Amino acid sequence: MKDTLLQIKAEAAESLSDANVDIEAVRIKYLGKKGALTAVLRGMGQISAEERPIIGQLANEIRQYIESAIAEKQEELRYAKLLEKLNKERIDVTVPGAEIPVGRRHPLSIIQRKLEQIFIGMGFEIAEGPEVEYGYYNFEALNIPENHPARDTQDTFYINDKILLRSQTSPVQVRVMEKQRPPIRIISPGRVYRSDAVDATHSPLFHQLEGLVVDKNISFADLKGMLELFAKNMFGGNTKIRFRPHYFPFTEPSAEVDVSCFNCDGKGCRLCKGEGYIEILGAGMVHPNVLRTCNIDPDVYSGFAFGLGIERVVMFKYNIDDMRLLYENDVRFLSQF
Ligand code: PHE
Repeated sequence: MKDTLLQIKAEAAESLSDANVDIEAVRIKYLGKKGALTAVLRGMGQISAEERPIIGQLANEIRQYIESAIAEKQEELRYAKLLEKLNKERIDVTVPGAEIPVGRRHPLSIIQRKLEQIFIGMGFEIAEGPEVEYGYYNFEALNIPENHPARDTQDTFYINDKILLRSQTSPVQVRVMEKQRPPIRIISPGRVYRSDAVDATHSPLFHQLEGLVVDKNISFADLKGMLELFAKNMFGGNTKIRFRPHYFPFTEPSAEVDVSCFNCDGKGCRLCKGEGYIEILGAGMVHPNVLRTCNIDPDVYSGFAFGLGIERVVMFKYNIDDMRLLYENDVRFLSQF
């Protein structure tokens, strides 16, 4: 009897030492109603009266032993499972986070916005016009009749005989003056097109910003004062401007306007190619023919207009020597702004 009990204890211990043991099966096998230990206890009747308490006590001890061994094993398995879970779901909070790439504004947009802010600050409103434009607005209404040599300098892309991609933002002047009566004070930024081959300073698509002011008593002095204020705002308080006589069919008199180089204060350096000044826009007094075309009486009203190349300003401001960089969308370039 005693041997049987000791054997049960040994077997149970052995089963529980297996890492993959089915604990419930072990419990049933040894402690269940039909289990090994229960069978021994049932047979107690056959044992002599002196032996009975000894065997009974031993059987009890062994039952307690198996019960606590089972409990211990259960705890061990629960802990192992928990450890495994913790290991699997481990989060290393010291790992550097995954960087989310953030976009930024294109240098052309940065400068366009800055230009808009400056002119809006001077009371201008923004006007828009179509990029696919009638030849009428791009040329005829701007005092550039067919076969006029000025068309050669602005050769553009034609959709058909009458429709083209605008070669300048000046057609917006006409569109505004057709609809609005003076006082007029607008700027119009946007894309323009010319049939030019791509190189460091040319692109078939580029950007201009047009300006137009029409009212009574507008003079060249107003144009000059306004442009000087603009240049100081854009390029710094020390900036000077310089007018050179020029020809545009839709303004008279006309000028090309340069700003002193902010890098050398007009002394001449690499940025301004030794010139001290950089050309940034064309301007002039609105030609009476253009006013008349738009039903504005040139004897009552006068105005000035200017057109500025946004790329030129960007390249000057950021010291960029090749315009193609602005269109190639290379993030190594774009991320610097
Ligand atoms: N449209 C002219 C150009 O593209 C610039 C300009 C605009 C000149 C307005 C005078 C007045 O060259």
